[in-house]
Amino acid sequence: MSEGSSLAELPIGIFDSGFGGLSVVRAVLDLLPAEELVYIGDTGRYPYGSRSPEDVRKFALQIGRYLADEIGVKLVVAACNTASAVALDDLAGDLPVPVVGVVEAGMRAAAKATRNRRVGVIGTVATVASGAYQKLPSRLGLDVEVCCAACPGFVEFVERGETDSDQVHVLAERLLAPLVAARVDTLLLGCTHYPYLARTIGDVMGRQVVLVSSAEETAFEVQALTASRRLGSNLQKALEPGDRLRAFSSGDVTWFLEVGRRLLGPELAEVRPITFD
Ligand code: DGL
Repeated sequence: MSEGSSLAELPIGIFDSGFGGLSVVRAVLDLLPAEELVYIGDTGRYPYGSRSPEDVRKFALQIGRYLADEIGVKLVVAACNTASAVALDDLAGDLPVPVVGVVEAGMRAAAKATRNRRVGVIGTVATVASGAYQKLPSRLGLDVEVCCAACPGFVEFVERGETDSDQVHVLAERLLAPLVAARVDTLLLGCTHYPYLARTIGDVMGRQVVLVSSAEETAFEVQALTASRRLGSNLQKALEPGDRLRAFSSGDVTWFLEVGRRLLGPELAEVRPITFD
């Protein structure tokens, strides 16, 4: 087997602070059926969104290093907008494998979807404070006006497995009001946890507003990268759903398996514990 093809058969590493990155896992599993994935949910240290940039950077580098050095993945996906917004350049500079983030892909898709050129972006406090999304239109040459809102509390609802309660609806009405008032016609879900709240968010924003999730766009980016670097798996394996994903959590693994399976599906067959200092 040549070096290129053996590298191609390594798994793809994906991480997030908790369950949110499973929205990216779902999209990658569906788009790339020959790939095997390793997921780390850092639930022992979530939420990242209220942490300092230094903490988020440290956690992202620890996990990226673990995936690259200990597991031996062929590429790392930072399936967390907070980590992507704060630490993508550090990860790309530090890791010996290619790194994919979730910030740019989502903005490109939102810019394609908008008709009135007004795009709303919702994310964690740390993501919005990083200014990553606000800088993107001029960096990517996109003719859109971006209106950002932080949504503290959304992630905690998802981590509790509570995705369509009255309480989350009330919170969404309050947090999304500025975006409704700004008449955005497209809303980018700039946190990988938020696709799990899509029904509530869609109800509050109204049917005329297109919701864009960075999960699918990121999967397309992974597909393009694996193709261009000849890293796509070529094995014709008949994998059972549970054999395609190895998952780790730094928090309560029983809870991770229960809620994660509800959010992701049968591919989450087992969750192993992991500890970071
Ligand atoms: N899912 C993550 C994100 O996309 C992190 C949420 C959090 O831990 O606060 O930002």
